[in-house]
Amino acid sequence: MNILHISDLHFGPYHWKGNNEILLKKINSYDTDIVINTGDSTSDSLESEYSDAGSFLKNIECKNVLSIMGNHDKYSKKSHEMFKEYIFNPEKLIYPPTEIGFKKKYLFINKKNIVLNEYFSDINYLKTIKVGNKTLLAVCIDSCYFQEDYGLVEESILDQLSLQIADTEYDTAILLIHHSILGKTGDSLGNSQSVINLINKHKIKYAFCGHTHRMDLSQVYNLNIKHQFTQFMCGTTSSGSIVFQKFNMFYYYKNVGEKNLEIYLIKYLIKGNNLEFQEERIL
Ligand SMILES: [Fe+2]
Repeated sequence: MNILHISDLHFGPYHWKGNNEILLKKINSYDTDIVINTGDSTSDSLESEYSDAGSFLKNIECKNVLSIMGNHDKYSKKSHEMFKEYIFNPEKLIYPPTEIGFKKKYLFINKKNIVLNEYFSDINYLKTIKVGNKTLLAVCIDSCYFQEDYGLVEESILDQLSLQIADTEYDTAILLIHHSILGKTGDSLGNSQSVINLINKHKIKYAFCGHTHRMDLSQVYNLNIKHQFTQFMCGTTSSGSIVFQKFNMFYYYKNVGEKNLEIYLIKYLIKGNNLEFQEERIL
C-alpha cells in the first residue's frame, strides 16, 4: 500500500509563486493508493481559496484523497461547510454527545441549537480503504480551534472515535492530524497525550501531520505496552512561506503496513517558470 503526503497548500495570499500544473504532474507521476492532505489548504478560509484548493485536489489522479482541516481553514464560521463542499465530505462525521460541555469554542456554531448537526464545526471521521487483501483505517482528527492557531482535540470526540475504532476491522491504522503530537515546537497540540493514548490503545502505527512548514520524522516506543509509532511531519507543499526550511516538499511512502517500508522526500525549488525537483530516499 503506497501513500503520498501533501500539506499546507495555503491557497490565497500565502500560496507560492510556483507552477501548480508542474507540481500536479509530479504528484501524479507516483504510483499511490492514497493521498493524504494534512491541512491548511487555504490562507484565510475564504470561499475563493477553498474553491482553488478544491480544484487542485480534484486534479490529483488518485481515487482516495483524504483531507483534514488546518488552523488556517477554520477562520470562518462557514469553514466546516466550505470544507465539505470543496475539499472533502466524509461519509459520516464523528459527533460528541450533546449533553456535555465542550472545551472548544464554537464546536457547535450556534449553541442554542446544539442538537442540530449542521451547526457542528469539527471535521472528525474514520475512513477504511481496501487495497488488495489489506484494509487501512485512517483516523482523521480535527485539532483546530475556531480562529486560533494552536491545537486542541475535543476529549469527548476522542472517546467516540475510540468506540468506533474498536468496532472496525483493519490491518493497519494511520492517524491524520494537523498539529504535531510530539511537542517539538510551540505549535504543538495542547492535549497531545490524549491522542497518544488513543494511538497506543488501538495500535496505530503511523501519525501524519503538517502545520510547522518543517519536515520531521520521529519514532516513539512505549516500553510498557511495547508499541511503537512514527510521526511524519510534512513541510509545506505549496506555501510561499518557507523561512524555516528553504524548500517546498511532499513525502511518498511505499509499502505502508509492511516490513519493507520505504520513505521518499521530494523537495523542490522555483527556477524561473519551472520547478527543480530533488528526490531523496530516507528509508
Ligand atoms: Fe497550520
